[in-house]
This record gives sequence, structure tokens and C-alpha cells, in this order.
Amino acid sequence: MNTDAMIKEFSSQFGKTPDHIFFCPGRVNLIGEHIDYNGGKVMPCAISLGTWLLVSKNNNKLLRFSSLNFPEKADFHLQDSYSKTGKDWFNYPLGMINEIVQEGDHISGLDMLFYGNLPIGAGLSSSASIEVLTGFALSKLFGLNIPGKELALMGKKVENKFIGVNSGIMDQFAVAMGNKNNAILLDCDTLDYEYIPFEIGDYILAIINSNKQRTLADSKYNERFTECGNALKALKKEIDVTHLCDIDLKTFEDHRHLINDLVLDKRALHVISENFRVGEAKDALKANDLATFGKLMFASHQSLKDWYEVSGKELDTIVEFCKTYEDCIGARMTGAGFGGCAIALVKKNKFEDFSSKINAYYEEKIGYKPDVFASEIGDGVGELKKELYDQ
Ligand code: GLA
Repeated sequence: MNTDAMIKEFSSQFGKTPDHIFFCPGRVNLIGEHIDYNGGKVMPCAISLGTWLLVSKNNNKLLRFSSLNFPEKADFHLQDSYSKTGKDWFNYPLGMINEIVQEGDHISGLDMLFYGNLPIGAGLSSSASIEVLTGFALSKLFGLNIPGKELALMGKKVENKFIGVNSGIMDQFAVAMGNKNNAILLDCDTLDYEYIPFEIGDYILAIINSNKQRTLADSKYNERFTECGNALKALKKEIDVTHLCDIDLKTFEDHRHLINDLVLDKRALHVISENFRVGEAKDALKANDLATFGKLMFASHQSLKDWYEVSGKELDTIVEFCKTYEDCIGARMTGAGFGGCAIALVKKNKFEDFSSKINAYYEEKIGYKPDVFASEIGDGVGELKKELYDQ
């Protein structure tokens, strides 16, 4: 759907043209999975798919939500606070509006139409995208000047407190602070970050959506969060650290007996080794050593599969194929797991061949097809310039 079509929809729903159009991307995480809530480093980047918001102020003191992706609409009277209602999509933007009004900022009524081309619940951060999008839009509309980092923190709070998932800061940070053709190396403890050029020459970044719905993902995610907390608690009996990622591999080896629980031991092993891999991946990228970077992606997947146990038959089948495909040098699941998407580095001129072969392989093993597309690394949230869409 292009912006003209979105504007038409807005006009037919609200009887006027939108005053502003905002866009917020989704993200992929190149490496550093299930690390953000353990205080380590991650390497996400914003992608070109995302969510649009067409919006105008209204004088009816109403927040009117509608979407081109979901049939449910909602109207809320302006209030001092809002709470979650059911499981509907509009809870995400409503949660962000709640954050903003709770800060004491005054807003007017709004007519809002959302549209997204990110597959929902596929690990590409459709929820972070709509949260940061809404926060950015309100910041612009009401002159609040909320910096990107702050928007990310507010989005995280929405996930944790309003929606009820203990997720970390990575997704919201990536979609707020993305930078074209750059990966973001983010320290999730200090929020210090660095852009690293993602120069992949003859290769492209492919996204393979397993089309496996991430059922139970939220509860399993919260379970991993708790397991990490318990492993840390055991290690803290002898090591003075704040996060699992403050521990290096050697120190872990020397103290892992303290955990005394097979499952927690595996979880900690993933987190600590994955955090180490992010450092190696950074060095590889800076040295333009894509082959090493790719190997680290495969190693990351293996660790998520065996030790963190968040992969699954579908994602494993994708990565298994990638390992046998000569012109793919690295692949892994991305995001929370339990279904969703994998990413792969594939030779540009082999992409068509790769797509058709992985389609056939996956369909034969799993019984339905994946979606395969090439992704660009884009910028974070922003406003579309009016002259670009005004007739
Ligand atoms: C989800 C969460 C993130 C992060 C990833 C796993 O995307 O929202 O905070 O924990 O899973 O790396």
C-alpha cells in the first residue's frame, strides 16, 4: 500500500486529509539474542518495513484509533491515564499515550490511522515499531521534544508495565535510533551505542519468515527472564556483579558449580557466550571479515537452540538449509524466537536461487512455505515530508 492509498483511507474514515504522516521501522537483530535484559551488548538494525501513522488533531477530545491491518477500532475520551483493554492491537499505541499523559503532558484529541507491512508477531518488532511511532508522533504534534533514547525507554515501559512482557530495551532502541546502512552496537546496561557500517559487499541480508506463529512466546519469554535472574542470584553468592553479562567466560567456568541446576546452567552459558560473540562480531564487522561474522551467526543460533531452547523445528530447518547452501555464509534466528524469522547472509546474485531452494526444502519438511525477502538497513522513526506525498 502506498501513501496515496493510505491518505484516501484516512479521508474516508475521518472526512479530512491527515496533517502528518509518520513512519517507524521494524528491526532485525544481527547478533546478541536474549542479551538486552541481561545487561550486555546487542547488534540490531532498523529495516525498511515498518508502521505508518496518519494523524490529525481533532476538537472532540477523542482519541480515535483505526488500522488498515485489523478490523477493531476504538475511541477513548481524553483522560489522565488509560489501562489495557483485552488483547487488541490499539493497546500498544494507547500504552504509549498513557506514558506521555502520565508525565503530565497535555494533548488534544487525535484521529489516527495506522498501517504496517511488518508481519505481526514474527520477531521483527511490530510492537516496538507502533509504540515508538506513537510516541514520536505525539512528541512532534505537541512540541514535547522527547529524545530518541527516551522514546525507547518509554516504549520498554509500555511493554513491561502496560502489556506485561519483561522485554529489554533492544527493539525500541533500534527502531528509534536506527541509521541507514549501519548496525547499532548497543550496550543495554549504559545505553551507550555506536553505529557500525554494515558493509556486506556482494552479499545481502535475507529475512526468512518461518510463518510459524509464536504461540506462548510471551509466557516462555518471561520464563527465560526469570531463569536468568535465578542463575544470576546463584552466581552472586561468590561474584559481585549486577548482570549475567558482567561475567566473562573464564569467571563463569570457575563459578558455574554454584548454579547447581542443569537448566539454569544452560541459560547462563548461552547468555555469557552470546555476549562474548557480540564482541567478536563487532571486531569481524570492523575488519570487514564477513566470513567470521557469518560463522558467529551460526554459532549464535546453535546456542539459542541447545542452551537457551528458544528456537524450534521451523527455525532450525531454515538454518539447517542455510548451512548446506554454499553461497550462504551465516544464518540464525532473530528476535525472541519460538517461531518468527531467521536472517541469512546470502550472495546477492544467488538470492533468487536461494529463495526457491529454501522454499522447496522448508515446505517439504514443515508442510507450508516460508516467506523470503531481501532487507535493507534503514533509518529510525521519522516524519514523511509533506511535499513528498501532497498532490
Ligand atoms: C524480543 C524482546 C527484546 C529482546 C529479544 C531477544 O524481541 O522484545 O527485548 O529480548 O526478544 O533478544
